[in-house]
Amino acid sequence: MLPGLPSLLALSVLWLSSLALRGLSEQSIKCFPEMGPSTEWIVRNKLTPGGLQTLRVDSVASSEPNSDAVLLNVSWTLKQDGSIQMLKATKICVDGKGQFSSYSCVRCNYTEVFHSQTPPHGSKWEFHYVGFPIKPETPYFIRAHNIPPANMNEDITAISVKFTSPDCQDPMMKYTKKCREYGSLWTPNITACQKEKSVEVNFSTSSLGFKYLVLIENDDDVLGNSDILELNQSRASVIIPVTAEKGKGALVQIIPYFPTCNNDCIRRRGAIVSCPEIINPVSVNRSQPRTRQMFLILPPLSVAMWALGVGLYLLWRHEKVKKILLHAPTLLPPIKVLLVYHPQACFYHTVCDFAEYLQDHCRSDVILDQWQKRKIAEMGLVLWLTTQKKEADRVVFLFSSQADTCDSSCKPSAGRHRESSQDLFTLAFNLFCSDLKSQASLAKYLVVSLGEAALAEGHSALSVCPRYQLMKDANPFCKDLLAI
Ligand SMILES: *[C@@H]1O[C@H](CO)[C@@H](O)[C@H](O)[C@H]1NC(C)=O
Ligand SMILES: *[C@@H]1O[C@H](CO)[C@@H](O)[C@H](O)[C@H]1NC(C)=O
Ligand SMILES: *[C@@H]1O[C@H](CO)[C@@H](O)[C@H](O)[C@H]1NC(C)=O
Ligand SMILES: *[C@@H]1O[C@H](CO)[C@@H](O)[C@H](O)[C@H]1NC(C)=O
Ligand SMILES: *[C@@H]1O[C@H](CO)[C@@H](O)[C@H](O)[C@H]1NC(C)=O
Ligand SMILES: *[C@@H]1O[C@H](CO)[C@@H](O)[C@H](O)[C@H]1NC(C)=O
Repeated sequence: MLPGLPSLLALSVLWLSSLALRGLSEQSIKCFPEMGPSTEWIVRNKLTPGGLQTLRVDSVASSEPNSDAVLLNVSWTLKQDGSIQMLKATKICVDGKGQFSSYSCVRCNYTEVFHSQTPPHGSKWEFHYVGFPIKPETPYFIRAHNIPPANMNEDITAISVKFTSPDCQDPMMKYTKKCREYGSLWTPNITACQKEKSVEVNFSTSSLGFKYLVLIENDDDVLGNSDILELNQSRASVIIPVTAEKGKGALVQIIPYFPTCNNDCIRRRGAIVSCPEIINPVSVNRSQPRTRQMFLILPPLSVAMWALGVGLYLLWRHEKVKKILLHAPTLLPPIKVLLVYHPQACFYHTVCDFAEYLQDHCRSDVILDQWQKRKIAEMGLVLWLTTQKKEADRVVFLFSSQADTCDSSCKPSAGRHRESSQDLFTLAFNLFCSDLKSQASLAKYLVVSLGEAALAEGHSALSVCPRYQLMKDANPFCKDLLAI
């Protein structure tokens, strides 16, 4: 857009007044978006300024009222040399590599010509620009160069830095819209205590949703879990069977399923303390000195304990034998399920959790490529896949509604893993597609989407398979899966 006459006049007035103030006026910058190449790129510049000395990046909350945005604060210093006189502007470009990549550039004109290599008060020319709204847990590449730029055959003077934005737990980031939708402002206020045979967990629910799953875990082992709870009260209480012996050092994890983030919402952990249970079997007021009392009590006590122990052991064995006899005939063998997942599904959060769900709740023995890497390396992917297809009772295609931000949140799954799962998915889809045309073999396939995932156009062949949306259709899914 060309500036109109009045604004041209205003500009020239500004220019004149800046001439009058030269020497007195302060150097500053005037920044504006400039997506394309700067005009200075097109011409050959006789003299060009040197590069930047430093480039630093930080995140800051927006100072705009009513804005929850988190912005980048890009700051830089200029090299001290004579070429600074040529310097007209600095251009900064930010390249975001998240779920949706983004790219944007800003050009900052220096309002004055540089007359000295250092500012009047200070050792280096230093500037900063606050802008570029950022998303949580996303890597950004920030690149800056001076204008006029170096000519084609000269040294490149751009410098760049990498910056990974903080996650939703960050005190600034948690107020952004995206994090709020993922449950960042939910304060579950978890209290949990260990009883002899169970853990009692209390927590406050969120207004974002009413579905929760509570796990008791130790490192990566799940010691016990609740069903998916549908809670309608503000504070909930669940009891999960985990013995005190097993639960030593365990933590509670609460997985919420809010409609805004499905199975990818922010999960919370809490510590488990021991319940203040009243175990006070000896309420005798001790009249004798303690040591003497112990001396008297100990021998008969140990004999009694020993007898009790033997008795309990025999009873336990008897019970165990009885249990085996009672339950053995009802135990059915697990069915073999080959799990093929869309490469966009986050492996650790989504695929593994789903596989565990199948094993724990749907009597399944899951075949997962990532668990058989060695076999695949030996056999090759195609042979492995055809063999597994033959062996499996069921093949489940898993889609996740969110394009999970795998690279940052599911380490170490980035790069190569994503590629190999891409291969697996495409290959499986193509290999099994012919089956989808015959009714007889069709029954083997099921499609599961976590959340509202829609089938992409290229996978419409799968629309003939029964489809389930979890966790909504969890029960029919399990039933149909097992009904061979
Ligand atoms: C941005 O960074 C510069 C240099 O570190 C600092 O002086 C300035 O206060 C920062 N701006 C904000 C809004 O934090
Ligand atoms: C920045 O400088 C360039 C070239 O010096 C000029 O074309 C452009 O209008 C300036 N922009 C602003 C907003 O001052
Ligand atoms: C958290 O729970 C404890 C005990 O139930 C209670 O005293 C405290 O006020 C609660 N805090 C919040 C923020 O709800
Ligand atoms: C959970 O809440 C119940 C009922 O309010 C209370 O009796 C119990 O002590 C609480 N347990 C924990 C571990 O906070
Ligand atoms: C939750 O409670 C409200 C009022 O207490 C009631 O109207 C609603 O039907 C309940 N929802 C469920 C799923 O129980
Ligand atoms: C135990 O004995 C002490 C004094 O020997 C007395 O003060 C206390 O009340 C007694 N406690 C009970 C439970 O009898």
